[in-house]
Amino acid sequence: MWTGRFSQATADLVLQYGESISYDWKLYRHDIAGSIAHARAQMKAGMLTQDEFNAIENGLKSILADIEAGHFQWSIKLEDVHMNIESELTRRIGAPGAKLHTARSRNDQVATDTRLYCRAEIDTTMQLLQDMQRALVRKAEEYASIRIPGYTHLQRAQPVTIGHHLLAYVEMLGRDYERLADCRRRVNVSPLGSGAIAGSTINLDRFGIAEELGFDGVTENSMDAIADRDYIMETLFCLSLIGTHLSRMSEDLVLWSSAEFGFCTLSDAHTTGSSLMPQKKNPDVCELTRGKSGRLYGNLVSVMVAVKGLPLTYNRDLQEDKEPLFDSFETISLALRVNTEMVAAMRINPDRCAAAVADPLLLATDLADYLVRRGVPFRHAHELVGKAVAVAVGSNTPLNELTLEQFRAISPEYAEDVHSVFNLDRAFQLRTNPGAPNPDNTARRIAFWKEKL
Ligand code: ARG
Repeated sequence: MWTGRFSQATADLVLQYGESISYDWKLYRHDIAGSIAHARAQMKAGMLTQDEFNAIENGLKSILADIEAGHFQWSIKLEDVHMNIESELTRRIGAPGAKLHTARSRNDQVATDTRLYCRAEIDTTMQLLQDMQRALVRKAEEYASIRIPGYTHLQRAQPVTIGHHLLAYVEMLGRDYERLADCRRRVNVSPLGSGAIAGSTINLDRFGIAEELGFDGVTENSMDAIADRDYIMETLFCLSLIGTHLSRMSEDLVLWSSAEFGFCTLSDAHTTGSSLMPQKKNPDVCELTRGKSGRLYGNLVSVMVAVKGLPLTYNRDLQEDKEPLFDSFETISLALRVNTEMVAAMRINPDRCAAAVADPLLLATDLADYLVRRGVPFRHAHELVGKAVAVAVGSNTPLNELTLEQFRAISPEYAEDVHSVFNLDRAFQLRTNPGAPNPDNTARRIAFWKEKL
């Protein structure tokens, strides 16, 4: 592609070191779409005859078919996907192929391809996020009324429901969806026409090209357009955050499926056994998801580090953006699909949940609120309940089984109706504010998500 200036062939080790075809071949569809749009603009500008354009378009389509059929021979001598395809095109159609690269550089070409790739993968990921949300909403609805302890510091805190707990993840994934939709707007602009750095003396219709490729507009600065990779970093951040949310859900399910909690049972199809211990049923999918979140962050960080010190504009370091990008999309796609399946097949164990949520200490805060309703300032009420908890724990008595006398020995503010606090129905009914685990709120939110999804 550049023999004119050189008198020596590229060294083998340099070819090996610099090739990107072993992974960027994945961009072939986008590369071909970009080339067809570019060629059409060349024809409209009078740079190609209709026949030449047809030859290019048909040639590229036959290459596409061969790649998809697995017949295409990639060569590391041609470094990357752009040169592999262009050189094969010229081999197939002759002279018109050699005109294709007019007013174009691999710099704007690779930016175009990766933007198209990100856009397509973002769209798929958004669908997968909604599939996951649907599975969670279905479980939330199925087990909406099953009560469990909610935890802070992994210590029992206050009663919630399975429905409320699972819907928390639906909200997180909903924001992930919005974030990707927003990121997509910045991804979806066409850099084609920026050339190597400073556009071209041959002016093709950038808007026509952008429109053909489904871009919403064109980039406004040729140097920015070829140097910028923030659309990749932003995408990787969005994927990292999905990974974070899935990882936290995984940790909950690891705990819930343990003998100690027993809140849920994962299906045999989504767990694995031990080669040594016959009784084991391990939540490997959850653990892998937790583990893979680290890999998603690593991909984000590696691109940020690769880009941060680069002078404008293109530097070969930028080639390092693609493997992390591909890996993150591949990782998140599989993670979402397998977790969706696993959640759909998960069963909740109402008995174990009921036993855990029967702990009266979960209502200690409600008891403080009871005193507040009787006019006790909250800080003081907190102290009075703390004392009652100490008596209960010290005498090995459940808090709700302290006698009225025992309560009143702590404070006369405790009245005859003190035991009415220890009622879970009451605890949920009183929490009427939006966002609280009240059954009506849960039902409303389930209806909202079912409509939206
Ligand atoms: N394979 C290259 C990359 O991924 C394509 C752009 C090459 N541009 C250049 N000036 N060498 O970044």
